Amino acid sequence: MLSGKNILIGITGGIAAYKICELIRMFKRQGANVRVVCTPNALNFVTKLTLRNLSQNEVGVEEFDIPDFKPEHISYADEAEIMIIAPATANTISKIASGICDNLLTSIACAFKKPVIIAPAMNCNMWENPVIQENLQKLAARGYKILEPENGFLACGYEGKGRLCSLEKIYDEAVAILTTKTKGKKYVITAGGTIEDIDPVRYISNYSSGKMGIALADEAYHCGNDVTLITTVDVTKPYKIIKVKSAIEMQEAVNGEFETADFIIMAAAVADYRVKNKSDQKIKKTNDDTLTLELVKNPDILKGLCERKKEEMLKRVQHDRIIVGFCAESENLLTNAKEKIQKKGCDYLIANDISRKDIGFSSDYNEVTIFDKNGGMIKLERASKSEIARGILKVINE
Ligand code: CTP
Repeated sequence: MLSGKNILIGITGGIAAYKICELIRMFKRQGANVRVVCTPNALNFVTKLTLRNLSQNEVGVEEFDIPDFKPEHISYADEAEIMIIAPATANTISKIASGICDNLLTSIACAFKKPVIIAPAMNCNMWENPVIQENLQKLAARGYKILEPENGFLACGYEGKGRLCSLEKIYDEAVAILTTKTKGKKYVITAGGTIEDIDPVRYISNYSSGKMGIALADEAYHCGNDVTLITTVDVTKPYKIIKVKSAIEMQEAVNGEFETADFIIMAAAVADYRVKNKSDQKIKKTNDDTLTLELVKNPDILKGLCERKKEEMLKRVQHDRIIVGFCAESENLLTNAKEKIQKKGCDYLIANDISRKDIGFSSDYNEVTIFDKNGGMIKLERASKSEIARGILKVINE
């Protein structure tokens, strides 16, 4: 399954280093070429000879131990399609988050522009340290995939969160990234609720957190795609971000990306109406007990995109694109979704039930039903938004 794939495994100085011997075997059994690089401290837990025999490659440790004239940190980074750092100690995580390159592993990580999986393992008190958490968040925001440690009995004698996640989890994550069919495409994804100004200090918006759209963008990026996220939420990401506020601004941004996009996913919660005459000055309180705001309809961005796609098909424009809508419903989810996919004319519609408290809006979890234009329907059971995102990308690429 992994024949011809190049995997770089970085091992740092933690007791879980011994488990990585089995991970190397798992990848080798599937035909992958595995290269291992260790921090000097990792060799206190596992030997270079073991790693060399299992990977059938030289093991890199020292930065200036160069057999031929080829800067190893660059050649290792060039060769591999994915880098897995497991176990990742608090020390290495913090160095990478700060751009420190004081050994071969951290130098490679700094030069590595493809997907990186980080599987931390450490004492539970170290894991809970806010500095470590901040550094992990910083890395996650920059596109690193963090596989959180598990709860359990730790080698240091403590009971708590810090044990390396299962090898299967690391393996599955890497395989999903390496074998995805979605590579090399341009994804334009919208996220967050639009903000419609009333006056300079007030606005109309909605409860959308943008998490589902961001999870889709992260997942598409991890799989090696060119991603543009058009968002009302502030985020720092390794891919292109276009920050917008209102539905009109969002429409302008999406339309600008239409031509080159292979997939357009409208995960944003676009306000259906905006204030007709937004005030340039702060609206003052009057003696009246009521205030009436007149609203006008916003453009339906998704419908407009689908109409443009149809026009291009009639003109026989070669470049086709898949357009995906979302449908947040608080009642009659399935009936409304079936009606909406017809009305909007999109290729897929992802329906989710916003009446449920355990999924949707600001939750990290979701459960969706994917409708396609031919009447097909696939349910993705409750899972984290990143797992749901992966499922959606898989379906829309089939
Ligand atoms: N959408 C859009 N432009 C709008 C409203 C919605 O592009 N002005 C998109 C959303 O991003 C989403 C899909 O249309 O992908 C469905 O959004 P939803 O709010 O469920 O549908 P509406 O058409 O607004 O219908 P209603 O609010 O009446 O359910």
